[in-house]
Amino acid sequence: MNLLVIHGPNLNLLGTREPEIYGTTTLPELNQLIDEHAVSRQVSVECFQSNHEGEIIDRIQAANTSHDAIIINPGAYTHTSIAIYDALRAIETPAYEVHLSNIHARGDMRKKSVTAGACVGIISGFGVTSYLLAIDAAVATAAP
Ligand code: DQA
Repeated sequence: MNLLVIHGPNLNLLGTREPEIYGTTTLPELNQLIDEHAVSRQVSVECFQSNHEGEIIDRIQAANTSHDAIIINPGAYTHTSIAIYDALRAIETPAYEVHLSNIHARGDMRKKSVTAGACVGIISGFGVTSYLLAIDAAVATAAP
């Protein structure tokens, strides 16, 4: 099984960005944790980060033939991007939405996920562990 992890906008700043909400783990450190967890589950993983909606959409479209499952943290695009929702709907590859913070326990503007409706499910609020749980969810439910 071949997983693609997509980190959306501002997640390149992990470690210094509002650490009381998002923790102190940097993006390279998070990707290392993801790599190690994937190895322990005997799956391969590629991690990608972009601050640009169109680049994220291009990677989602390409994943239709390149990967067996997508784990996506769309960042703030979660709450706004019908284009990312449409891209996820347009492909066969299943997607799993993750968030470091619990988006339902924050301000009203974060309570609604536009993109979750195009995903198998959503894991939110467990910090970096959200990503590791999503790997387990993909291994358990996505067809290789
Ligand atoms: C986030 C939650 C979003 O509301 C926010 O815009 C982010 C990060 C999270 O992982 O908790 O950028 O997706």
